[in-house]
Amino acid sequence: MNVAHELAPARAQLEKLARPLGFVPTMGALHAGHMRLVEAARAQCKSVAVSLFVNPMQFGPQEDFERYPRDFEADNEKLAAAGVDLLFAPETATIYPPDFSTFVDVGKLGTRFEGAARPTHFRGVATVVAKLLHMLEPDVLYLGQKDAQQTAVLTRLVRDLNFTTRVEIVETVREPDGLALSSRNAYLTGPERAAAPTLYAALQTMLKEIQAGKSVEEAREAAVRVLSPQARLEYLNLVDASSFSRLQTLRPPAFLVGAARFGRTRLLDNLWIRT
Ligand code: PAF
Repeated sequence: MNVAHELAPARAQLEKLARPLGFVPTMGALHAGHMRLVEAARAQCKSVAVSLFVNPMQFGPQEDFERYPRDFEADNEKLAAAGVDLLFAPETATIYPPDFSTFVDVGKLGTRFEGAARPTHFRGVATVVAKLLHMLEPDVLYLGQKDAQQTAVLTRLVRDLNFTTRVEIVETVREPDGLALSSRNAYLTGPERAAAPTLYAALQTMLKEIQAGKSVEEAREAAVRVLSPQARLEYLNLVDASSFSRLQTLRPPAFLVGAARFGRTRLLDNLWIRT
């Protein structure tokens, strides 16, 4: 696997790679969920590039940018073992020169749910992914279902800005007890970790109740009863998969999305209702 920290050597390597090129953007601290994206890219494309960049622009001032888990050596080994062709791990100045001032605004979609909780988050995500797509020019962009609203934002970005890259969404990988894999699970204490799978259980209950004919409100009430008392629920909603506007009846493609805090850690999860 070639590793490049700057754009020129990354592009020199990319020129030698066979097409189609699959691309997996990451912030490192790689777990089995990321590796599933790499596997999908490996299976569907002739070459695979991964980026590793903890993007400061998508963290709010009070968020965990400084303490976000970083383990470059371990990530490097996992990616090399998975047959990745290029790891692009740019320095901050390569992505954001000192007077950087141009951002991608994703509009209303970026203000709902996660965007309401984290007002500059999707602007930061969209900006860095637009830059990475320009820099690496991949054929297919692999994204994890776990960050459902991010998949909607980036699918919209690709369409609105006429990138020729195709977007592939890969299903969430879970622990045996249902907890969705996330780099932030590392922050959970023992009791928080024990309570965390109840977010997934709540989403499953909500879907079952809606499918049984209950209203979204009634289904949410049933779901809340399944949540651990340790959870501080932020939202639990049925939304359209591309606009993230709320739905009152099940109209696929849709997501049931949830966010809750377990101690200081904020976790997200969703169910993807495709048909
Ligand atoms: O999902 C992530 O890890 C990040 O939001 C991404 C897509 C790599 C952009 O920084």
